Amino acid sequence: MTEPRRVEHQMTDKGYVPVYTTAVVEQPWARYSETDHAVWGQLFRRQREILRDRACPEFLDAIDALGMDDARIPRFDDINRLLLAATGWKLIAVEGLLPELTFFEHLAAREFPVTWWIRRPDQIDYIAEPDLFHDLFGHVPLLMNPVFADYMQAYGAGGVRASTFGNEPLANLTRLYWYTVEFGLIDTPQGLRIYGAGILSSKGESIHCLESDVPNRIGFDVQRVMQTRYRIDSFQKTYFVIDGFEQLFKATVDPDFGPIYYRMKGAEPIAAASVLESDRVFQHGSGIGWASAGDV
Ligand SMILES: [Fe+2]
Repeated sequence: MTEPRRVEHQMTDKGYVPVYTTAVVEQPWARYSETDHAVWGQLFRRQREILRDRACPEFLDAIDALGMDDARIPRFDDINRLLLAATGWKLIAVEGLLPELTFFEHLAAREFPVTWWIRRPDQIDYIAEPDLFHDLFGHVPLLMNPVFADYMQAYGAGGVRASTFGNEPLANLTRLYWYTVEFGLIDTPQGLRIYGAGILSSKGESIHCLESDVPNRIGFDVQRVMQTRYRIDSFQKTYFVIDGFEQLFKATVDPDFGPIYYRMKGAEPIAAASVLESDRVFQHGSGIGWASAGDV
């Protein structure tokens, strides 16, 4: 069997550009260096501590249930035994970023792609692309939750369907993923908590998203979210708050989920910073320090 490659973004005169790869590989666990394990351990300890009263309880409980700790990079086979038994999901090891449709197809089959390699020590605080820490620590624990697990599969199936409808539905679906799976907040009796993996794997954003006066925090509405542009170069200007994972699941399996694409056809995208009259506002952000251009 060929050794898996480490496929990273490439630096060009236009900045970092993503490179896509579709191979599914075996996690080369014996190949991890002591430095790799140390990077995992350092990130794990730091985030576990920061997230104590900030992440949703379902996430924190699942970290423990999956037996993740700071000693070693987990073996995917060990995680899979527990995950398969809990919700029928499994991890697959990949070399880097997947093309959109391939990614959707894996989700629809209850397979979550996890990048096998971990960032270097000089990338502890920021890396442009997903690595093992983001994918495994950020995304996998919530797949232990049956409702969230079903949402992820429904999202993948929706993505496979949307890919036949052209670019606009795909852009809408990408925004939905961004504002839920990556940067979502959830309202709990103890206050707002984090469930989005992009936040859970980021030290700075874990604090910023809940405690800063700068960003908006707005109640989730599927069509509103699918119309809203986002940031890839800074903390988010707006976070959307769900009231439970059932709300996410209902939004994607609702019989209206397909027709939403047609209803939204040609609808103007909403700027990342906007607060609308129809929004349920948890916080209207101060917007201090925001760049006025650059929403994608
Ligand atoms: Fe991610």
